[in-house]
Amino acid sequence: MKRLTVLACVAAMSFGPGHALAVDAAAADALVRKSKCFTCHHKTKEKDGPPFAETAEKYRGKPEAIEKLIKHVTVPSKVKVDGSEEDHETLRSDDPADAKNVVEWILSF
Ligand code: HEC
Repeated sequence: MKRLTVLACVAAMSFGPGHALAVDAAAADALVRKSKCFTCHHKTKEKDGPPFAETAEKYRGKPEAIEKLIKHVTVPSKVKVDGSEEDHETLRSDDPADAKNVVEWILSF
């Protein structure tokens, strides 16, 4: 009986203290896929661009992250890939809410 209680507590803790961001992960994933972001990014593995999990780690606890990253994924810029400059893709959506959703999704990794 005691053992069951302990298990229940462990289970409860692993679900919390999640953050209360209402991220639509399916929509974010679909838009990122459509925008070809996965050619250079993976959620956890190193590709030409940093893994999203690394970006989430880098910006953890930084309040300016969302605004900065929304700009990064909506304003065209240049990035270095293997020493040569390439265009950094932007999201194929003009809706600012979509960009915010994608950024919050990336930061949730
Ligand atoms: C041509 C390859 C390429 C494509 C396509 C690409 N990225 Fe990137 N991305 C990079 C590289 C390289 C960096 C690292 C740039 C740097 O740190 O200066 C980067 C950085 C980032 C970062 C981290 C920025 C930071 O400040 O740490 C995010 C978030 C990001 N990309 C999201 C996206 C999204 C979303 C898309 C699709 C709309 C996308 N990328 C498409 C190559 C790419």
